[in-house]
Amino acid sequence: MQKAVLILRALVSLFGIALIVLGALFWANRALTLIPLHMLLGVLFVLCLWGLVALGFYARLRAPLPLIVLIWSLIVPALGVEQVRLLAGPHRLLIQWVHLLVGLIAMGIGHGLARRISGAWRAVRYPGSSPSAHSSR
Ligand code: HEM
Repeated sequence: MQKAVLILRALVSLFGIALIVLGALFWANRALTLIPLHMLLGVLFVLCLWGLVALGFYARLRAPLPLIVLIWSLIVPALGVEQVRLLAGPHRLLIQWVHLLVGLIAMGIGHGLARRISGAWRAVRYPGSSPSAHSSR
């Protein structure tokens, strides 16, 4: 369980950074031929979030975080596939910022969920230990 969380968390970071780097290139009107790669990485990114959501439910997290991540992970690709069409509209810059912000928030809540799962898992394995004894990482 811990290993799966660790791997998914690392992949969320890895794909997230690659998406931002590619996005920055697109923003500068460069490497536009790599848009399909960006979209593929976006799908993989979302699949990793779903993996964390599944582990969150499996770990029986009480908080609504897994549900929030699930809903957000549906918004990311929905917005992504509409991106090209939306960019052609009048609010190009706003759409670009919203797309980036939605992606960054997805990364943030994905990491938050991973931390919560690890914490819950540790609490099951070491029931006597106080939550403060563990860092939030
Ligand atoms: C399934 C998920 C995703 C899809 C389908 C997708 C798709 C796209 C598309 C089609 C573009 C427009 C390229 C252009 O014509 O200029 C774009 C741009 C961009 N993407 Fe994504 N994307 C996804 C996820 C993400 C995520 C998670 C991030 C950040 C963590 C991100 C960051 C960016 C940035 C910074 C740009 C350039 C600015 C912009 O056009 O909004 N994308 N993306």
